Amino acid sequence: MSNQYELFSMVPILRAAEQSALGGKPAAIGAFNVNFYNQARGILEGLRRADAPGIIQASRGANQFQGGPDKIQVMILQAMEDSGHSLPVALHLDHGNEEQAPICVDEGFSSVMIDASVLDLEGNIALSRKICDYAHPKGVSVEGEIGKLAGVEEDVIHETTTYGDPFLVPYFFNESGADALAVAYGTSHGPNKGSQGGLENLAVWVIEKSYKGMVAYGQNENHFLVSHGSSTVPKEIVDEINKYGGNVRGAAGIPMHKIQEAVKVGIRKINIDTDLRLGITATFRKYFSDNPGVEDTSTNVLKPIKYELDSKLEAIDPRDYLKVIDASLLRTDPKGTALEEVMGLVQERIAAHVEKLVHDFGCAGLAGKVDRVSLSEQAKSYI
Ligand code: G3H
Ligand code: 13P
Ligand code: ZN
Repeated sequence: MSNQYELFSMVPILRAAEQSALGGKPAAIGAFNVNFYNQARGILEGLRRADAPGIIQASRGANQFQGGPDKIQVMILQAMEDSGHSLPVALHLDHGNEEQAPICVDEGFSSVMIDASVLDLEGNIALSRKICDYAHPKGVSVEGEIGKLAGVEEDVIHETTTYGDPFLVPYFFNESGADALAVAYGTSHGPNKGSQGGLENLAVWVIEKSYKGMVAYGQNENHFLVSHGSSTVPKEIVDEINKYGGNVRGAAGIPMHKIQEAVKVGIRKINIDTDLRLGITATFRKYFSDNPGVEDTSTNVLKPIKYELDSKLEAIDPRDYLKVIDASLLRTDPKGTALEEVMGLVQERIAAHVEKLVHDFGCAGLAGKVDRVSLSEQAKSYI
């Protein structure tokens, strides 16, 4: 039985996308990173407008920012309750490690990633298996990773991309027990994807071969491929940041038609963080420009935020300018506070972008196609 605001494993959610693809309509589910309450509300609102299932994910950095995974879990359920969001949603740990993944399982996340891609294959499989052994009895899904994305992956930096080996994909699923797998194919994290094969140079063949192997081994209805570093980095948002005092240079994202190509050949989960960061930053900058002196007339919580933005022109990560205020203010509905107006704009900005993205990913209208299996029922599927 399910109550209205439960969180789901990624498995039934991603399966709805796979079934859509098998029925001739390629689809992938959007997985959106979250750091604060109105970001979550914006994501949920975008999903609701598109009638889409979705994945909300928190990185280790996000958990730290909000004071722990328990705080994030409560924040997401609160956001769902406040917006009456009853469409299927998973709460996922993004780029988890050996320490954080079990903690997130214990704290009520419905999915975790174990990113052991810096280890050799056997080490990666062994650690991913260990996390599956911990998560699956609670019905919590697990995502692994093979290959290396260029640029920053949480606290690891890689100079260049190392593609995941497609021929290892069925083996990795089989040996590790993972439900989903990020296979590096030329995308990268952050707003500067152009120089490392973002743009037109994606190795979509890596995904195609990986997926074909999964189909050959009959894995594709329970196992799913993930595209990290997939933000589109819309030029108009970057221009807006720069127009209102920011300094974001060399920005380039993955063109939507390349993402759609990858979805056509097997991607079922698409990770988006940077696009939301950019939208949030543009909104804050424009708000301060449109409302001169607002930081002086309101209670002074806006003042240190503006100071940070004025002195960190390159900043696109909202945590860089929001960390100056008490994190608990960013964990609840800001109604009646100095943050209410700007956070309302942030929320709408995110909602509009998420709605557009999930339409483009092909998962609009799939909410009703998700089999709403509870985590305890999901746990039985692993026995
Ligand atoms: O891994 C990349 C995601 O964008 C998460 O970023 O670790 O800075 O929160 P973060
Ligand atoms: P972007 O930086 O392209 O948004 O990628 C996000 C991501 O992969 C999170 O894990
Ligand atoms: Zn990632």
